[in-house]
Amino acid sequence: MDEADLDWVMSVERRVYVRPWGRRGFELALDEGLNYVIVRGSGTHEQPVGYVICRPVVDEVELLNFCIAPPFQRQGLGRRALKILLERWVEQGWQRALLEVRVSNPARTLYRSLGFDEDGVRPNYYPGDRPGSEREDACLMSCDLSVH
Ligand SMILES: CC(C)(COP(=O)(O)OP(=O)(O)OC[C@H]1O[C@@H](n2cnc3c(N)ncnc32)[C@H](O)[C@@H]1OP(=O)(O)O)[C@@H](O)C(=O)NCCC(=O)NCCS
Repeated sequence: MDEADLDWVMSVERRVYVRPWGRRGFELALDEGLNYVIVRGSGTHEQPVGYVICRPVVDEVELLNFCIAPPFQRQGLGRRALKILLERWVEQGWQRALLEVRVSNPARTLYRSLGFDEDGVRPNYYPGDRPGSEREDACLMSCDLSVH
């Protein structure tokens, strides 16, 4: 991902999340440097379909934002992209991938199926995802890349 991707990324971010990241958050993430646009197709036919924002911490990678744009969701693209990313991280020598996810998010099933374990719960971590709704627990997950 680079600066030129941000208009598209922001338009998807605003569509997908009730509490979207601001542009500044993405700019700071670009400075830290482990971020990807997921594309479908190749060469001149490449089409952006999603993005991943990660923060490297020593030998671990924390997945901060993982999103497939609505028209492309539920077609297996998120699974394929994450699988490729995990393989790449293994090759690059990262030891562990970490993330947190709303307990109600069906992405939990995806993460479990790709080798993430559920390590714990952070109670009431997220604000409600609809006006007036209650706070929600975060599920803390990690994947040991050294045995992946
Ligand atoms: C989570 C997300 C990245 C998954 O990408 P995707 O391309 O839609 O997912 P896939 O089609 O590859 O599906 C992979 C698995 O995820 C799970 N899943 C994803 N979305 C789901 C939904 N709406 N309902 C039920 N299961 C779902 C299923 O286990 C699915 O496997 P299956 O198709 O064999 O049942 C995407 O749905 C998304 O961007 N969601 C909104 C943002 C978000 O919540 N990101 C994760 C934050 S931690």
